[in-house]
Amino acid sequence: MTMESTVRPLDSLAGPYPLPLDYRGAHGLSEQGWLGMEARCERHDIALVVDTLAGNRRVVEIGGGTGAVARAVADRLGAVTTVEPHLARAAAMRPLAEHGVTVLPGWAEELPLGDGEFDAAVATWLLHYTDDPDMAVTEMARTVDASHPEAKVVLVQGAPDNELIALWNRTCAALLGEPEDHQGYLLDRAAHLLAEHGFADVSLTRARVDVVFPEEGAEAKSRAAAEALAGYWNPGHPKLAALREALLPPLREHFATGTDRIGDDAVMLVARPRRTA
Ligand SMILES: C[S@@+](CC[C@H](N)C(=O)[O-])C[C@H]1O[C@@H](n2cnc3c(N)ncnc32)[C@H](O)[C@@H]1O
Repeated sequence: MTMESTVRPLDSLAGPYPLPLDYRGAHGLSEQGWLGMEARCERHDIALVVDTLAGNRRVVEIGGGTGAVARAVADRLGAVTTVEPHLARAAAMRPLAEHGVTVLPGWAEELPLGDGEFDAAVATWLLHYTDDPDMAVTEMARTVDASHPEAKVVLVQGAPDNELIALWNRTCAALLGEPEDHQGYLLDRAAHLLAEHGFADVSLTRARVDVVFPEEGAEAKSRAAAEALAGYWNPGHPKLAALREALLPPLREHFATGTDRIGDDAVMLVARPRRTA
């Protein structure tokens, strides 16, 4: 990946700079790996998203996962629609119907939704799993009625100093022969694209997310983290054992400080139509 920027920097929260010139391609996501990681997460991004949507009524979430965000939004607003392509994940969310969550099968790149059907569209930790993040963002803008006073597109991705992403880039990318991850690139690109689609009033806010390892002692934490991260990032990969081994030294160094967690901090991007006074 070429690390030179041709686009105007959006904000330090969309870094680190320089930005790559192109998208590295989609990350894989394993069912078990994701569930294991989610169970260890202390997330403050969800409350931030829910507060941001307080004035909205018709909200669509893209990439529902286990329904953690959809459930929280529905609890606040009474209802939410979530779009999820993975059949097992969509099925697991169906019982959330009693809490006001409507689950639709579909892909971010081709949402099964009409133009302007919603007053807000939200996607948390989604773009790096899509084949075409530009299309996903364009589709989100299409489904939002920009004339609504609370119209907004909300994205959550990793912060510039996200420890998990740095660890992946340092340890796994080269070992697996994959390009480095860069979450700020996705936010920067999305912001420019959303502005082109009329959502030019963009703000970025940081949210704390931690992956917690309560295991007793630094060595047990390091081993649990190596197991969880290798399975999460590269399930079934032929180099899985090598990856686990490669993760151990930096994880031992990390947990030697006495911490019980790895930072997975988020940045929330909110794009609204620019209103003239
Ligand atoms: C890491 S999970 C995040 C789940 C949820 N948004 C959250 O923050 O808890 C990403 C979700 O996006 C879904 N996904 C992946 N690619 C997608 C695409 N192209 N369109 C829609 N959803 C997608 C995955 O199946 C998965 O459920």
